[in-house]
Amino acid sequence: METMRKLWGGAFGDESDSLVDRFGQSIESDLRFWREDVLGSIAHAQMLGRTGILASTETEAIVAGLQRILDEGPDSLPVDVEDIHTAVEVRLGELVGGVAGKLHTARSRNDQVATDTRLFLRGRIDELIPAIKSLQGALYDTARRHRSTVMPGYTHQQPAQPITLGLHQLGHFWAFQRVGRRLIHLREFVNLSPMGSAAVAGTGFPIDRDSTATALGFAAPIPNALDATSDRSFVLDALHWAASAMIDLSRVAQELVLWSGAEYGFVRLADAVTTGSSIMPQKRNPDMAELIRGRTGRAIGNWTAFAATMKALPLGYNRDTQDDKPGLFESLDLVADALGLTELMIRGADWQVERMRDAARHGFSTATDLADFLASTGMPFREAHELVGTLVKRCASGAFEPPIVAEVLHERLTKAEIDEALRRLAVERSVRQRNSLGGPGAAAIGIQLRHARKLLQRPGFASLT
Ligand code: ARG
Repeated sequence: METMRKLWGGAFGDESDSLVDRFGQSIESDLRFWREDVLGSIAHAQMLGRTGILASTETEAIVAGLQRILDEGPDSLPVDVEDIHTAVEVRLGELVGGVAGKLHTARSRNDQVATDTRLFLRGRIDELIPAIKSLQGALYDTARRHRSTVMPGYTHQQPAQPITLGLHQLGHFWAFQRVGRRLIHLREFVNLSPMGSAAVAGTGFPIDRDSTATALGFAAPIPNALDATSDRSFVLDALHWAASAMIDLSRVAQELVLWSGAEYGFVRLADAVTTGSSIMPQKRNPDMAELIRGRTGRAIGNWTAFAATMKALPLGYNRDTQDDKPGLFESLDLVADALGLTELMIRGADWQVERMRDAARHGFSTATDLADFLASTGMPFREAHELVGTLVKRCASGAFEPPIVAEVLHERLTKAEIDEALRRLAVERSVRQRNSLGGPGAAAIGIQLRHARKLLQRPGFASLT
């Protein structure tokens, strides 16, 4: 790199070493928020004009130049510079001449970068909200369609009791309601203005911080200049949010990986989200789900890495915090992609309902139903549990065999009771009658679907329940 153009150097005799320039440069990642940087500068320049700090002709020239940069786009910005703030000021100078040098009155790159990061993050949050809703919509639609599709419910990853695919999909729906609610909360922390805090201690110019905050859509200015320029806890919160959203997405992904394999065979993923093998022609690999599962590690890493950066930083701007951006951008991109891909996988999924029902029939998943029924005939539940256990041991096929059941129950129950016991072994019946709130029964799932639909139709994520 040739020597880098800088906004400072008056007090320096020698040029900085090229290694120093390279190590310190952030222009590459900063370009992600070039627009926010220009918008922040426009708000600042207009405020300088309104307060009379700059003459109105000066403000007009500066704002017209910045507007032109917005129209030109990032390609017109120089990259032989330290950061985006320098790039915009250099370009502005090319466009409007010496008056560009007045833009930096009563501000610093320290309040600028904090403002840019907040504006950028707020914009991404506003794009993520509908993406989360959209994925919830896919889960809801699947749940509605498969409200009575029987499948095994697992505990310890072992078949436990039959449930429905509807109950399962709604299980994930609620996870994303929490993801959304956390994001709304995050937005509140992000949407405050550092602008006008200058480097560390405010300024003697008669600036109006309220008006720049309002112009940029912030709820209010941050009250303390030291805090405003050095706080990055909102970035940590965003990284944590992203890690936690990815953890939820990775749980969906892991089920799709398992269930699309031959051993489960519960789902066939659409061609559009499946990849082939270069050697094995028969393969349909769930690569997108695997990548979501795997990259969750990066999201967790970005959060812990930046937590380590922030730990013990004293108040006042510290250059350490420059490194918040690459991880933040990566984690936000990752969640956005993973939300979109998960929605594609869910919407395109071909659920193998026969296979799921068969799996529910195997593995004695109605053992609890049978024990409950025996208890309802007056047998102590402990004894009923024991008796059903004996039955499980005797049925070598891996599912309840009616003749063996009838034979074992013969001494304890009437003929009518045995017939009823056999009916209780049917998975459909087991599911249908579990109508406690949150259960898979027809009435209970109807209530839950209506509840979910109501939340889906409300804008944002006003509530968790
Ligand atoms: N690139 C810097 C960052 O991201 C901008 C602020 C630089 N401020 C300074 N005093 N060097 O933090």
